Amino acid sequence: MGISSEIEAEKRILELRKQLHEHNHLYYNVAEPVISDKEFDMLMKKLEELEEKYPQFADELSPTKRPGGDPVDGFEKVNHGYPMLSLSNTYNSEEVEEWMARAEKALEGEEIRYVMELKYDGVAISLVYEGGRLLKAVTRGDGVTGEDVTSNVRTINTVPLVLGGDVPDKFEIRGEIFYPFEDFNRLNREREENGEQVFANPRNTAAGSLKMQDSRVVATRKLDCMMYAIIEGADVDSHSMAVKKAGEWGFKVPVEADNMISTSVDSAGVMSFIEVWDKERHNLPFAIDGVVIKVDRYDQQERLGMTSKSPRWAISYKFETERVITKLKEVTYQVGRTGAITPVANLEPVQLGGTTVKRASLHNADQIEKLGLHDGDMVYVEKGGEIIPKIVDVEESLRSGTMDMFSGIEFPEHCPECKTELIREEGEANHYCPNAEGCPPQITGRITHFIARKSMNIDGLGSETVSQLVEAGLIADVSSLYSLKAEELLPLERMAEKSVQKLLDGVEASKKVPFERVLFALGIRYVGETVAKKLAKALGSMGAIMEASQEQLEEVDEIGERIAVSLIEYFSLEDNRALVKRLSDSGLQMEAEEIEGATDKLAGKSIVVSGVFEILDRDGVKKLIEQHGGKVGSSISKKTAFIVAGDKMGPSKKEKAEKLGVAIISEQDLLDMVG
Ligand code: IVH
Repeated sequence: MGISSEIEAEKRILELRKQLHEHNHLYYNVAEPVISDKEFDMLMKKLEELEEKYPQFADELSPTKRPGGDPVDGFEKVNHGYPMLSLSNTYNSEEVEEWMARAEKALEGEEIRYVMELKYDGVAISLVYEGGRLLKAVTRGDGVTGEDVTSNVRTINTVPLVLGGDVPDKFEIRGEIFYPFEDFNRLNREREENGEQVFANPRNTAAGSLKMQDSRVVATRKLDCMMYAIIEGADVDSHSMAVKKAGEWGFKVPVEADNMISTSVDSAGVMSFIEVWDKERHNLPFAIDGVVIKVDRYDQQERLGMTSKSPRWAISYKFETERVITKLKEVTYQVGRTGAITPVANLEPVQLGGTTVKRASLHNADQIEKLGLHDGDMVYVEKGGEIIPKIVDVEESLRSGTMDMFSGIEFPEHCPECKTELIREEGEANHYCPNAEGCPPQITGRITHFIARKSMNIDGLGSETVSQLVEAGLIADVSSLYSLKAEELLPLERMAEKSVQKLLDGVEASKKVPFERVLFALGIRYVGETVAKKLAKALGSMGAIMEASQEQLEEVDEIGERIAVSLIEYFSLEDNRALVKRLSDSGLQMEAEEIEGATDKLAGKSIVVSGVFEILDRDGVKKLIEQHGGKVGSSISKKTAFIVAGDKMGPSKKEKAEKLGVAIISEQDLLDMVG
């Protein structure tokens, strides 16, 4: 569809946003998408194009802005309109029944309808909407004052940015932000691969994520949000109706059909909900730590009132964390691609939370020592949210007489795979095998990392084939991939002509992969995707990174001592330098694009680009800024150095710039500035 006028463009943009907000809701909150992912992506792309072309219609709550904006400096403190209370806990049916009896007595025997919900194990959040748009997201804090984490909460797909239909002009809604197991486990796997410390549990990680300075990182974390209370404005007279309404407005709420919310007028109904979920919780894709029981009718809630800390109209029932005892058969040690050694407890198989547990993670030597583990110990195992359960305690009274005579399990001094002496640096939690070149799991691990989708994306090569090629002596490191020949591969098992061609094509195509991914693919400790991007952008080439001093490296945005030292160590090894040379000779990208004529005239400056340009186009202006060391910001803030404005800069941006005293310059001014 051609767009001929600005009015038409605005209409189309607003229409696309509305459609995308709706489809987002259907996809994430209702789990009933009505269009395909591809169609969704096409609408999104169309909107992106139009927004790019017509920046005067920009909106920070556009569906295109979910990936997050510029880093913030700290979080503003905000007072809650109504305090965010906590709940008193109960742990058994007697306590629940006592609470019900007290409520009934206080209401002079009136019938009470109770609502039962899950108790989500995450972080409480308060969202304020005005004119149907998300205005503020505030953490609970101490219950009276919280922190404004709007920029981070905006990245959560299940939080609607703009509501459709008939909603009150201003209202507050509360709920819980949590980290679903699958995404949490994926994050930890990635961290483990990068040689970073893994996170302990989804709840703390959700809390930590909300407090990150860079919302673009938060966006990668796939947090989720379930709402459980509307504070005024719903125009209903019960909690269950309010939850229904919130669902209609576009929020993710528990639905009765899934039995995640239910009502009952007697304790049998309440208890049966608890019993069902005590078992079913293990099949949920996220953590709950109990059930919340609320008096449904608002008028009854009001009459019951509250104590200083918690309401009398609601209570939580906390599940017991399931814990089993089993025998620790032995501790084995795994070697990762960075050489990090991870101890794993091998257990006598035992049933826990619906699955058979045979292994538990032990993280590192400190944990073994803290638990005081002995081979053959009877240990208590619990399941948090992680796939792999943890050992939480040892039953020392069950040790046989002779066991205590031996001291506990000692961390090996040598690599279990290649027998090299292990090292453990000061302040480091992990032991490492330093034999990077000769230790088999490190070699195959590095190659597998190198070919992965996020690295060189070499099609036609999986981790099994890698081991096969290493065993056949065809590859010793990643550079030998580039000299593989069809006639060497064809005799191997499972290597038909077609698969060989696919592999060789994949290897060839990888030569075009941008430099930042080549840098990431090397698998240098602590150099994950984001760090590789930052280094590539700041230093421009492999040569520059190899020659940079620790100080120079630490000057790069977000690169600290730990990463800088790791880079220096990596490139101080002749083997690594030679490997890079071989990769470079094979034709891999060793330079970031467009560094010609680069200066650092705009270094450290965050610059916002707005409007339509004449000399360069919009992308041209952005490139120019980056070429001279500046950063293109997506929204105007106190940190914006200046705004490069073309024709038709939006009035709201102009107003904001004036309010914050941010200078507005023209395209020509920018060109003059960088000479
Ligand atoms: S109602 C006063 N409903 O539990 C009313 N809270 O200990 C309190 N929580 O801070 C909120 N799931 O973070 C409510 N379905 C649910 C909940 C829930 C989890 C959390 C919430 C609150 C804490 C109270």
